[in-house]
Amino acid sequence: MKQCLMAMLVACVLVLGFAVVAVNAQSGGDVSAACSSCHNLKRVCLMVGSKDKAGWEKTINRMVANGASVGNPGAMAGYLAGLAPGTGPCQ
Ligand code: HEC
Repeated sequence: MKQCLMAMLVACVLVLGFAVVAVNAQSGGDVSAACSSCHNLKRVCLMVGSKDKAGWEKTINRMVANGASVGNPGAMAGYLAGLAPGTGPCQ
């Protein structure tokens, strides 16, 4: 029984880990797809590291008003706020 629980725990951790990686990878792709048609991605990358999640949410909402299509602005804001400068789509 104990072994069974351990196996389930390990499986859970693995699945969660993959899910987190998949979400991050997708958001990075989303940023380059959604944010490079009107201006260069550099314009976005310049701000990485200086805006928090609320700041990115404001910016993304303004970009949506400009005409950008973003599936999940909250998730993208969280992704951009957590990104270290020079990583993800900003390499
Ligand atoms: C439909 C065209 C368009 C798309 C798509 C677009 N932008 Fe913009 N962006 C603009 C315009 C126009 C400006 C300059 C005016 C302004 O700041 O609203 C700008 C300026 C910016 C700035 C500099 C100003 C600031 O507040 O720091 C950032 C950062 C930015 N955009 C991020 C993004 C992100 C992130 C995305 C993807 C979700 C995106 N943009 C997609 C049109 C667009």
